[in-house]
Amino acid sequence: MMNVVEIEDEHGPASYQKFPVTIVRGAGAEVWDDSGQKYVDCMGGYGVAIVGHCNPEVVAAIKAQSEKLITCHSSFYNDARAEFLEKLTTRAPKGLDAAFLSNSGAEANEVAIKLAKKFTGKKTIVAMKGGFHGKTAAALSATWNKKYKEPFEPLLPGFKHVEFGSLGELEATVDDDTSAVMLEPIQGESGIILPPEGYLKGVRELCDRKGILLIADEIQTGLGRTGKLWALENWGVVPDVMTLAKGLAGGVPMGATLARREVLHSLKKGEQSSTFGGNPLACAAGTATLDYISKQDLPSQAASKGRFFQEKLKALIARHRSAREVRGMGLMLALEMRVDIHDILLNSIKERVLFTYSGRTIVRLLPPLVITEAQMNAVVQALDKVLSEQELKQVG
Ligand SMILES: Cc1ncc(COP(=O)(O)O)c(C=O)c1O
Repeated sequence: MMNVVEIEDEHGPASYQKFPVTIVRGAGAEVWDDSGQKYVDCMGGYGVAIVGHCNPEVVAAIKAQSEKLITCHSSFYNDARAEFLEKLTTRAPKGLDAAFLSNSGAEANEVAIKLAKKFTGKKTIVAMKGGFHGKTAAALSATWNKKYKEPFEPLLPGFKHVEFGSLGELEATVDDDTSAVMLEPIQGESGIILPPEGYLKGVRELCDRKGILLIADEIQTGLGRTGKLWALENWGVVPDVMTLAKGLAGGVPMGATLARREVLHSLKKGEQSSTFGGNPLACAAGTATLDYISKQDLPSQAASKGRFFQEKLKALIARHRSAREVRGMGLMLALEMRVDIHDILLNSIKERVLFTYSGRTIVRLLPPLVITEAQMNAVVQALDKVLSEQELKQVG
């Protein structure tokens, strides 16, 4: 009989970077494997587990909704969907009072791209070098990394990429046919890259001056992760279109494309739909998630825990030659090493901590915002041991 790993390797896709752990249970910032071992989860499902694994309020909402109605196409009205839409748009950046609900980040960005073209009647989009927006056709066209794109070219025409942080290059690249500028406020996939001071405000001003939409991909940065509910709030910027996914429904698949009503309503009947989008189960989970985020003030928690974590990590890297830098905002953190981190990630698993990559040399930390001080200390201790052993081996 094949075990879980053998079955997934045999019958699943080969396109995931797999780690040798079978996770069967989760609570808060911790998960358990099939032998009962417990791990601190600093990967958080690539930042999905914002409110913690199996958040009790989300679980209760899913249970209650699953006994009432699980599916309801958006061609009918539904109470769970209406409640979620109202809550989401009330908390959204100023003016973004309408949302198209979908099922993933890539899908939310596909809708944002269609919206930009439809609303403005213009054909091109300027995205950022280093940017990541997902792996479906249009989202992949907006993504920068050639590794993800080249095997599938030709992709969509009309995408240009400029240096993240260079207002001059952006100004020189936008033209009369530019519908939107699309960016992540902090680039996640390419290494937790923070924008230079004044850059995002400058992008907003440029877009206003030229009549171009600003699309903020807050799929990784949103929902409190950076210390504000929306990362752009850190720089006092309001986008025209904002995309969300990951933790929006407490771990249940959901994407959302938010915009002003007049922008969203440029997509006319039949021009965008999704069988599962706005599904009542995901919406009930989403409402419970948004409630939990505000009741517990998770953005402030992310800010203070992020400061604590960064301080500890900075003290740690001062003791390790192989470490280069710690950076980030809130609980969106990177530990940049001078070496390939493959073995560090595998050895950390042995020390009961899960991380993920952000490029070959950068350890990315996207823990649940409910992580505790004791858990953060355990993570730093585990890393200390892993780095010490690795450095010893390199010397030997
Ligand atoms: C900024 C950003 N945009 C888009 C996506 C794609 O989301 P999904 O994997 O749900 O399609 C991700 C996923 O990591 C992301 O970090």
